[in-house]
Amino acid sequence: MERTQMSLSTAQRPAGPPGDPAWFRHVLGQYPTGVCVITAQPADGPPIGMVVGSFSSVSLNPPLVGFYPSVTSETWPHLREADNWCVNILAAHQSDVCRRIATAPLAERFEGVPWRPAPSGAPIIEGAVAWIDCVPVAVHDAGDHKIALAEVRHLDTASSELPLLFFRSGYGSFAPLTLTAYDPEMRLTRPLRHFELIRAIAQELPDQGLRCLVTAPVSESVVVVGQLDPPSASASDRPTTLVGQRLPFRPHGPSIFEAWAPAAEQAAWVAKFTPDSQEPEIQALARIRERGFSIGLGSEGHRRFAAALERLAAEPGTVPNEELDALVASLDYEPAELTDEVLAQARVVSAPVFDGGGQPVLALTVFGFKARPDVVRAAIAAVTGCAAKATRSLGQAPRRD
Ligand SMILES: Cc1cc2nc3c(=O)[nH]c(=O)nc-3n(C[C@H](O)[C@H](O)[C@H](O)COP(=O)(O)O)c2cc1C
Repeated sequence: MERTQMSLSTAQRPAGPPGDPAWFRHVLGQYPTGVCVITAQPADGPPIGMVVGSFSSVSLNPPLVGFYPSVTSETWPHLREADNWCVNILAAHQSDVCRRIATAPLAERFEGVPWRPAPSGAPIIEGAVAWIDCVPVAVHDAGDHKIALAEVRHLDTASSELPLLFFRSGYGSFAPLTLTAYDPEMRLTRPLRHFELIRAIAQELPDQGLRCLVTAPVSESVVVVGQLDPPSASASDRPTTLVGQRLPFRPHGPSIFEAWAPAAEQAAWVAKFTPDSQEPEIQALARIRERGFSIGLGSEGHRRFAAALERLAAEPGTVPNEELDALVASLDYEPAELTDEVLAQARVVSAPVFDGGGQPVLALTVFGFKARPDVVRAAIAAVTGCAAKATRSLGQAPRRD
């Protein structure tokens, strides 16, 4: 009802006069634009740049692009004299670069803005999503603006970031309405698909009474991509899930995704540890590889970590990342001996699932052992067997090296 009234009143309102600048801007501001910086490198002096939203592709044959500089712009006369322009399409995180170039004095616009020369010598701003190196070919009058046309000589994309957008006087970025999630490098989509492909195999674990989390390395984090619980596992009436939760993946955390990494990556990982804990970490990685699984003991830290995860499952965002990091740092992993006494303290066991390239792409983590060594041994056999089956189903013989 309210919606109808609102749209009626908008529709019935008399349109404003086109000569009213505020009204003109208000109506035209409903049309979003990207944000570009047109750059040039004068023969003498620092590079120059001008922020424009009016950039557009114009012609394919010949390849022409254009933009509309204001006749009152102080930058435009300098651009007009340049032999080349480079159009930089800014990325969504570059609104600070945009503000700097739009507002700083002409000679200081590139201070603190990293750039490299395009083939013509005009600046390509580091981090821009694409650049178009071009030669000015025509300038036409258009009221209080000019129509500036340029012929494209070189062009390339430079990052997979989303572009910066300008809409209703504010900056933003793009959210697609397409049927696939926007994940151009498949960072999350690939692990989700891996999990989907092995889900039926992993189901053996809850069927044997074990609770199971399936995690994957996603950028610098480990993300829960699946959770399989025995039917009776949920403590509360409300079903909860950790799927989507990022777990800190850093020194002191479980290293299962690093244990089979190439030597250089593993060395870089170990170098992040404090000098005292580098040797223990090297040994821990070797134990994971030899055993084919990672084991975490049920220290007080582990109990608090598990409680924090329960809280997060019930209400995402309730545990600050710093608190999770501190809890992960207190965990106790990869004991040297697996005696009955040690196994009685086991809290989690994780086994890797490898992809066709031999890298661990998922970890199956089981827990809920009730401090019984026989249950832990059975869980180790179950989770490693299940992970090996899952690895084979993804087209790879399990690694044991
Ligand atoms: C998002 C955004 C889009 C802009 N688009 C244009 C444009 O298409 N044409 C233009 O002349 N100025 C545009 N401007 C303004 C110029 O970047 C610049 O601020 C203006 O020309 C005044 O500076 P100047 O006198 O130093 O050139 C835009 C500014 C912003 C922040």
